[in-house]
Amino acid sequence: MGIKILGTGSYLPPKVVHNDEIGKSLDTNDEWIFSHTGIHSRHVAGDGETTSTMAAKAGKLALEAANVKPEEVGLVIVATSTPDYNPFPSTACVVQGMLGCVNAGAFDLQAACAGFIYALEQARGFVNFYPDKKALVIGSETLTRVVDWSDRSSCILFGDGAGALVLGNDEAPGVASTKTTAHTILGADGNGSHFIMRTGGTRDALPFSENGVPMKPESVERPEMTLMGHDVFMFAVKTLSKVARDLCESLGTSPEELDRVFAHQANSRIIEATARRMKLPLSKFWLNLETTANTSAASVPISLDQAVKAGELKDGMKIIMVGFGAGLTYAGTYCTWPNL
Ligand code: UT7
Repeated sequence: MGIKILGTGSYLPPKVVHNDEIGKSLDTNDEWIFSHTGIHSRHVAGDGETTSTMAAKAGKLALEAANVKPEEVGLVIVATSTPDYNPFPSTACVVQGMLGCVNAGAFDLQAACAGFIYALEQARGFVNFYPDKKALVIGSETLTRVVDWSDRSSCILFGDGAGALVLGNDEAPGVASTKTTAHTILGADGNGSHFIMRTGGTRDALPFSENGVPMKPESVERPEMTLMGHDVFMFAVKTLSKVARDLCESLGTSPEELDRVFAHQANSRIIEATARRMKLPLSKFWLNLETTANTSAASVPISLDQAVKAGELKDGMKIIMVGFGAGLTYAGTYCTWPNL
């Protein structure tokens, strides 16, 4: 009884770019990238593929797995930092139209790589109050289109893809659920907002030329992503283990009792250090960085879907999803699969 994950889906574009390929145009190589990040290759959106097309594919698969019709969905949330259009219309509205979720409200949520867990928490609140409706929560990103491909310390980290979950509540319709197995932490540290940035927002609106007319976009430098990798690394290691420990402590349990940890896939060394800090074997952590790289808000739902498909997520398992990202943001959810 209560709020449940009814189905999962994910989509990775067929085009794959190996580290060797990047090494042809930048002073880098597979050996350095793999030993420093755990990444060998990443999926890259192809011609005609966008954040919304990938989101719709993952969303459709999740709806099918959940056996839920598009018209039963009351809310579509897309967690993304790489929307099709910036800032409107939202990617979620485009996806709502593509999937035929005609009875759903739709909005995007931007909390960078922690965005999916933020979105899941909003959806959990929604199905809690509207148990006769389902929520479709998607993380979808085309980071490879916004990275600075001349910066070898950041462009190698990212990949494209989408993951989705359908949430439902099997309490009696119209009755707000009081039962939950989940506990969530959402947090941020705005003092680190300069650690990961992409310029080009309204704060750096188009400069004016001498005659007072805004300059043409093509005469202004392209927005770029900048990353203070070491500072982000330190923040991530400290934060992921703290959030996971705090979640366990608040529920009166201990990390050793966890069956699986789904941490944001940013760098395998971050996940290894988190495992050490939590005194947990690395085998409890889902790892797919080698072939997906960092898909930002899509990384946690892609991991969950892969674990479901591999038969490695069984009912009753105690799991934690935990992530961090630009902002700086962080988030974690503890639940007893598939209940939230
Ligand atoms: O989802 C959140 C997004 N952000 C992240 O996840 C970033 C987290 N941080 C990281 O993953 C790591 O800090 C990086 C992988 C970005 C960098 O690894 P690092 O071990 O912290 O390397 P570093 O930045 O300290 O650089 C060490 C050296 C430098 O050379 P010098 O100055 O010592 O001569 C870099 O220029 O490695 C060089 N380097 C590279 N060499 C070959 C940096 N990137 C590369 C590269 N290939 N791709």
